Parts: sequence; structure tokens; C-alpha cells
Amino acid sequence: SRSIDLAVVPGDGIGQEVVAQGLKVLRSVLPQDVKLETKEYDLGAKRWHRTGETLPDAELESLRTHDAILLGAIGDPSVPSGVLERGLLLKLRFAFDHYVNLRPSKLFPNTATPLAGRPDIDFVVVREGTEGPYTGNGGSLRTGTPAEVATEVSVNTAYGVERVVRDAYERADARPRKKLTLVHKNNVLVYAGHMWKNIFDKVGEEYPEVTTDYLHVDAATIFFVTQPERFDVIVTDNLFGDILTDLAAAVTGGIGLAASGNINPTGEFPSMFEPVHGSAPDIAGQGKADPTATILSVALLLRHLGYEAEAVRIEETVAADLAERDPSAPRTTDQIGDALAVRVAS
Ligand code: IPM
Ligand code: MN
Repeated sequence: SRSIDLAVVPGDGIGQEVVAQGLKVLRSVLPQDVKLETKEYDLGAKRWHRTGETLPDAELESLRTHDAILLGAIGDPSVPSGVLERGLLLKLRFAFDHYVNLRPSKLFPNTATPLAGRPDIDFVVVREGTEGPYTGNGGSLRTGTPAEVATEVSVNTAYGVERVVRDAYERADARPRKKLTLVHKNNVLVYAGHMWKNIFDKVGEEYPEVTTDYLHVDAATIFFVTQPERFDVIVTDNLFGDILTDLAAAVTGGIGLAASGNINPTGEFPSMFEPVHGSAPDIAGQGKADPTATILSVALLLRHLGYEAEAVRIEETVAADLAERDPSAPRTTDQIGDALAVRVAS
């Protein structure tokens, strides 16, 4: 019989609330014969305040043993900026080699977006997840003085770029439009930018059916707003991907709908699924958070684990629910979760 052994990291702020709804929908959509086991990990701001720990080795080792990880949100204003981001979230992405940070964008019906009514916005950003300026390679000299010098070096390896570019080609090749756009800034970042472009062109020789395109990141932001239909699959570095996917969320229905998967395609480590949004401390505990992004992240999780039919059912249910949403009658976090859980039930 089939089973899913899931690690759950609710984290901070609205993370707790949205993850509860994600689990509710997951339990409801799974067929009877699939045994779901969950283990919750107490990680985030509260833990740090209590013990000073962000992600102890023992917990990292324990997390490694699960089939997948569902994460809510990490970060709180009471913790110095960077402590939890680096010590927990990025540590997980790096330790479990989540080199594909998958962030799909679809224009759902009836959502608040400047692009409402535009047809066929359906693209996916493949954001590199383990390199770039996120590696912590830098430093500061004469810190806090008028003569301070700070560096933050972007690390790009041929190995790391090739594997994520290849993954993006595979995804493009499997989609009807078969189009892949590389986004970088090789008119200024000539070392990393040229390496990305050279590897992109070289790997592309193996995918003759995939149409390719290149855009500088600044130009890409314009097209995200003026011509988003032109995108199918986008591959880009860690920081450009971070910025572009917030923009993508904002223009395709809001950050409350944006799902993501931190994927280790080799299967050596568990992949981790999380909404793109943060912990939103300003609305935490009030039942105002939209759990849809987490629920769509559960769909990505199911797809990754081979439950394609269940993933599709969640996505179709979300689309149907959004089509009926009445913006003048907002529902609570729980109400949205309950409605979706009832509707996906098999
Ligand atoms: C995201 C977040 C993280 C990132 C932060 C919280 C470290 O913005 O998942 O997009 O920059 O990757
Ligand atoms: Mn981000």
C-alpha cells in the first residue's frame, strides 16, 4: 500500500494558519489507501527566542528522512534580519540541494490583477536555488565606519548552472509551447552572464524542439507586465528569480496564490514545498491569510511524489473556487480551507 511520510514546518506568523489548511486539503484529496504520516517540527522565531537555535543538526538529519517537507513561512520582526532566513530556510535549501526552485504562474479567474481578462498567462520560473548571491560569500571591512566596504559575491559554477538549465529544458520540452527564456544581465554581469548564456546555448543543442529566447532581467520585468503571454518556461539565477517571481505573483492574482517547490530532482534529498509569500506578521493570528498559495504548493508536492491526478484535482478546485469568490464577502483562512477540502474530496 502507498504512503507519504511528510515533515511539516509551519514556521512563523501566518505560516501556522496556512499550513493547517494545506494539510486539511491534503488529507481530503488523498485516496483511502494512501497512508499519510506527518511530523511537525518546531522551528522558527519562537524556537530561536527560547533556545537560540535555528536548525540543529539532529533536526536536519531527521528532516532528511521524510518523503517531502511542507513549509509555511519563516521570519519575524523580533529576530534580526537574516538570522532565520539564512540559518533555517536557506540552510534547508542548501543542505537538501534544492537546485530547482519551481514557481509556476497562472492567471486564475476572478482575481485582483492589473492583467485581468488577458488570455493564456501560464508560465513557470525555474529559479536556481543553491548558488548566486545567496551563498553567503562576502564580507564587510571597517564595518559601520564611513570607510566601510561590503562585498556579496555571486557564486556560479558550471556544474550548478548546467544542471538547472537542463532541468528547465526538460520542463520546456514537456510543455505544448516548448519555449524557454533565459533571464540574466549579461550586458553588465559579463562573467556569470556569459557563462549562463554559453551553457544555455550548449545544452540547447540537445533540445532541438525547444524555442529559446534571452532577456536582460530589467527588460523581462517590462514584459511580465506588458506581454506575459510570451513566457512559457523561464530559467534564471537565484536572486533574479526571487525578484521576478514576486512580480509574477503580483501581476497574476496576488502573492496569496503563488506556490513554489524547492526541488532536488535527483531524489537524494526530500524536496520542500512552500508558498512564495512570507510570514506576514501584520495579519498573523487574525484568520485573514489566504491559504490558497499553500494549498497550491500541496498540489506541487503531490505531483512531485507521483500523485498527478490528485495534484490536478487541487488545481482545478482552486480555479473553480476562485471563479466563484465574491470579493465583497471575504472568507477567513479556515473557511477557504474548509471549502477547498470539501470540494477536492474523492
Ligand atoms: C523567497 C523568500 C526567501 C528568498 C527569503 C525569505 C530568504 O523571499 O522564498 O522568495 O529570498 O528566497
Ligand atoms: Mn522572495
